[in-house]
Amino acid sequence: MANTILVGAQWGDEGKGKIIDFLTEEADIVVRSQGGNNAGHTVIVGGTKYVLHLIPSGILRSKKMCVIGNGVVIDPVAVQKEIDGLRGQKIKVSKDNLLISDCAHLVLPYHRALDEQREMKKGKGKIGTTKRGIGPAYGDKAARVGLRMADLMQPALFSEKLEQRVKENNAVLKAFGAKPINFKAVNTAYLEAGKALAPFIGNTVVYLHAALKAGREILFEGAQGTFLDIDHGTYPYVTSSNTTAGGACTGSGVPPHRMDRVLGVMKAYTTRVGEGPFPTENAEISDMLHGMGREFGSTTGRARRCGWFDAVAVRYAGMINGIDDIAVTNLDGLDSLPTIKICTHYKLGRQTLEVPPSDFAQLTNCQPVYIEMPGWQTPTHEAKKFSDLPKTAQTYLRKIAELSGAKLTIASVGPNRDQTIVV
Ligand code: GDP
Ligand code: IMO
Ligand code: MG
Repeated sequence: MANTILVGAQWGDEGKGKIIDFLTEEADIVVRSQGGNNAGHTVIVGGTKYVLHLIPSGILRSKKMCVIGNGVVIDPVAVQKEIDGLRGQKIKVSKDNLLISDCAHLVLPYHRALDEQREMKKGKGKIGTTKRGIGPAYGDKAARVGLRMADLMQPALFSEKLEQRVKENNAVLKAFGAKPINFKAVNTAYLEAGKALAPFIGNTVVYLHAALKAGREILFEGAQGTFLDIDHGTYPYVTSSNTTAGGACTGSGVPPHRMDRVLGVMKAYTTRVGEGPFPTENAEISDMLHGMGREFGSTTGRARRCGWFDAVAVRYAGMINGIDDIAVTNLDGLDSLPTIKICTHYKLGRQTLEVPPSDFAQLTNCQPVYIEMPGWQTPTHEAKKFSDLPKTAQTYLRKIAELSGAKLTIASVGPNRDQTIVV
């Protein structure tokens, strides 16, 4: 399978977890390299539903190794809970199949409190974050005042640093009029989680390079999506990490020339959760999908905003990530429609745009230009091969690939592992 970076080509929730789980069969190692437990990846295997937040989706295949790289921000208490939950679902999680970077930064309760306070303060202009403390945690990392897994492994040092950080952050929280953080309680809870996590902590860079040398194949599991990228997304309505392909290198210590392929995952339509511009948003599709019980967030349960497939966005995602192949998920979500729209361009005043404008205010003013494709109005969830799909569905998928400028390699027609078509 070679070393593959899998990225979300839209605004997150593209079905990355499902595709990772499917591709893990061919890989040796699955690596998470950015984001935190803002991510929610739903995978259904044999009728059992698993929701992964920090642990790579590869964990569902017991013989594969999972790595959480240096670029991830980790809430140790949350990851411990996630491990316990997976074990409760009879999934093996041990030091033989999970390694966590000692350089990964910690998400602390003051990060969550600040995330919440900043959102409240913004009022209508809020980002609509997951309130997991992701922005403040990456902020501390950039400001060089973050605490890392390596600190947590040294209790005396950790407590000393934490006390100082709590003091500083409590002053900020006080200015917001928010409740202060209790150092003692956090210190106890985190040291306890640290003790439980100790067997998993190590130097992931050295591990991955040894694996590369041994010819083992690595799958990099993206979290969030291209338009939530801190640099390339719809700033400021973004997350705080590099969700695009480059993030897999910086977030793991695996250099660019060791990467062989980039796979972009996208839905057959578009969704977005949280605030921010979304040119192809459409109330009818939202109502239809929500009516089917679909498109509610796996992390926060919020209803996702839904719209038509946006080829302008995906074309740009292809550029930034260097997407070679695409996996299109949720094709079955469009099964009932008589006609389906695809946005091929934006109009901004008199201009016709092939790629999204960088400024969010301009993007908000963009009018999508659509082409219409005939629908298939036939259930697709039982299709096993590409030729089982209705001709119009095949044409729709080919059109998406053509507009994306990449090769269609996977089509997904249901949430289960076996509802995956290799094209
Ligand atoms: P991720 O964050 O990119 O891993 O995506 P999520 O798991 O948050 O959201 C994708 C949702 O779509 C989940 O509920 C999946 O179970 C579901 N899903 C993925 N692929 C398909 C598909 O082809 N058809 C259907 N019906 N559901 C799918
Ligand atoms: P997965 O990995 C969809 C969104 C939030 C918000 C913005 C910033 O499941 O695709 P944050 O908490 O990161 O500071 O929130 O980013 N967001 C996601 N949307 N899927 C995700 O992850 C997301 N992670 C964050 O809704 O708009
Ligand atoms: Mg998700």
